[in-house]
Amino acid sequence: MKSIASAPGKIILFGEHFVVHGTPAILAAINKRVTVTSTFTENKTIKVNSELGTLDVPISSSYKEAKSKFRPFVYLANKMINSNQNANGLEIEINSDIPVGVGLGSSSACCVAAAASIYGLFKELSSEEILKMSIEAEKTIFPDTSGADCTVCIYGGMIEYPNVKKIDNTFDLNLLIANSMIPHNTKNSVEKVNKFKENDEERFSQLCDLETKLIDEVITAMKNNDATTFGLKMSENQKYLEEIQVSNDTLRDMISSLKEISLGTKITGAGDGGCVIALVKDENVSKVPALLPKYKECFSAKIDTKGMTRELVEWKREK
Ligand code: PMV
Repeated sequence: MKSIASAPGKIILFGEHFVVHGTPAILAAINKRVTVTSTFTENKTIKVNSELGTLDVPISSSYKEAKSKFRPFVYLANKMINSNQNANGLEIEINSDIPVGVGLGSSSACCVAAAASIYGLFKELSSEEILKMSIEAEKTIFPDTSGADCTVCIYGGMIEYPNVKKIDNTFDLNLLIANSMIPHNTKNSVEKVNKFKENDEERFSQLCDLETKLIDEVITAMKNNDATTFGLKMSENQKYLEEIQVSNDTLRDMISSLKEISLGTKITGAGDGGCVIALVKDENVSKVPALLPKYKECFSAKIDTKGMTRELVEWKREK
């Protein structure tokens, strides 16, 4: 038997960083996916194959001994094998078209698809149980995660977090993603924001209140089919991200280059590198590549409505 599960990447439209401190955020799943395929094996090892490398360790080894990128898989495999007496070993294969380390949710999508795929061999978990397992797995790399990324990967579409509500966008969001090609480290950026908060609790609390108000205004703008206000709120959110110092010159240059053709532009995800998103009018989409340096990657994002998918496939290993 093969258990195959897939999950989409994501963008954070509003509220990154502040969401770690309890304010709301708006996220959307995008049409880039990771697929994880798991099979039982007889040889008492956990084997992981991915484009980022391979791992082959005894089932008794702890996730803490693995390189950070493999920890969620070893964690989930250990947990499943320990609760399933018939399981000897496990082979996990990962295929992804989500760019890694640039704020498009590659690691959360891997955690969701891995939890669904690995557990799928054993029993059918509910979406809520998979969410819980995937957040636990993500915490092996990034203990402070807000859980927002895994949540949108599971449910797909556009959601408000933490009181998970699906949002129906009433206007066609023409979202463009531009990759600065500078990898970022979410844990380091979140720690930097924690320091900002420690140094100026009062201002940080004001910014959290401003972010909460902004998100209310975005929800109203969507109800009113008002793309102009939606875009303005993206740029306003960017000012808050600048203030907590998760931007840099490269991201500011990209944002300013896209300004004339977009309704709003901001960082998406942890910042300090990674991607920016822009809300672009249809007639301007073709102008985007000329505005960015050649080595920056850019593409249109479509909102994924499927979220996590899973299936069990009859299969026998060749002897
Ligand atoms: O850049 P990413 O995809 O790792 O997103 C991080 C988003 C944060 O709000 C900074 C952290 C979180 O857990 O929500």
